[in-house]
Amino acid sequence: MSGEAVFFDPHPPVGAALRDGTGGSGPVFSDVLDLREHVGAMTDADTLVLGPDVDEREAFGVAHLLREHRPHAEVILVRHEITTPLLQEALRTRMSAVVDHRDTLRLRAEVRRSLSRVAPEQPPRGTPGRRGRVLTVFSAKGGCGKTVLAVNLAAALADRGHRRVCLVDLDLAFGDVAVTMQLYPAHTIADAVPLGDGIDSTAVAAMLTQHSAGLSAIVAPTEPSAAESISPQLVSHLIEVLRDEFDHVVVDTAPRFDDHALAALDVSDLITLVVTPDVPALKTLKVTVETLLELGYPPGRLRLLLNRSDSRVGISHAEVERTAGLPLAGQVPSSRDVPSSVNRGVPIVQDDPRHPVSQAVTRFARDQVTGSTQEGRESREGRERRGRRRFRR
Ligand SMILES: Nc1ncnc2c1ncn2[C@@H]1O[C@H](COP(=O)(O)OP(=O)(O)OP(=O)(O)O)[C@@H](O)[C@H]1O
Ligand SMILES: [Mg+2]
Repeated sequence: MSGEAVFFDPHPPVGAALRDGTGGSGPVFSDVLDLREHVGAMTDADTLVLGPDVDEREAFGVAHLLREHRPHAEVILVRHEITTPLLQEALRTRMSAVVDHRDTLRLRAEVRRSLSRVAPEQPPRGTPGRRGRVLTVFSAKGGCGKTVLAVNLAAALADRGHRRVCLVDLDLAFGDVAVTMQLYPAHTIADAVPLGDGIDSTAVAAMLTQHSAGLSAIVAPTEPSAAESISPQLVSHLIEVLRDEFDHVVVDTAPRFDDHALAALDVSDLITLVVTPDVPALKTLKVTVETLLELGYPPGRLRLLLNRSDSRVGISHAEVERTAGLPLAGQVPSSRDVPSSVNRGVPIVQDDPRHPVSQAVTRFARDQVTGSTQEGRESREGRERRGRRRFRR
């Protein structure tokens, strides 16, 4: 059963315009008493859109009332002005989105996303109780293509909406997932800090930025200094909550072994090590693999992905495998179309699925991620931590 969108604004033409702008057909209320009465009839699959002229306190009051009756119904707040305190309050009260009143396209997208979600009382897709798989894209060397590959892997896995995938940007200080996907996020991972252990599926829903069918992201903070306030525990807790909501969680990382990357690696089913065919990258890869093995990560969880595999630089694929002590699990060619897709903000696998880069990424996703068997994950405590500091800055 799909839900319906309900609109509320004290000015009837504004409420009607909101509904028309979203292409919806749900009821429009201008009297808060009528709305409060209607809340009792709403279901968990419904979405309440609160218009720009609704008094802020009243908006949060109605949202609270709805939550009491229907904890899984979503609330979208439309505002004339969006401030940081407002976003914090919206996150705290678990609004699923705050949208600028001029941004009708975003409102339309948010309402569609909200209405297309699987209603919580229905069984999740696939096996009940199944948990999504976590794939972290890592390299201790900068600029080898982690972000481009993470974005495109996430898009390939989402497969135009056939799967639900969340991409998490853990390059907390300088992450560029938002830019690479041309997202305009209302929330970043920094908004999770005040929630601490209280992060649950509803809080996570409010933190997501939708990119395309099946593909959402949790983006890095806009202020590099905010990274310090995000604890590794928060990262692992967030990922654990996400894996209950998504088929796949793809994590992009900063180019170093920091505590955030380790927190993600600890809960990952697959660790994709990105390398380019050049001597500095190979040297870093060798030490990376040694360190991961010393830390106790099972070798079977590592996947080696060679980016710019066709660069003629005198390093053979066999040499890459020998240096890493791992077989190549995938190879992605070099192409000028990659930076141009980044500049346009559209993952190349979506823009041109037949492109050799897209085919290589899709093959890797199919052969290594969706096809492979899940391994048991070890506890963080159970692991030898020596060698961890080798890469710290
Ligand atoms: N296969 C490829 N062909 C051509 N250009 C590529 C390819 N892969 C990545 N690039 C380009 O290389 C640059 C670095 O890529 P990207 O930002 O994904 O690297 P990164 O590992 O995430 O970097 P950082 O460590 O700084 O986060 C970008 O300009 C990207 O467009
Ligand atoms: Mg990057």
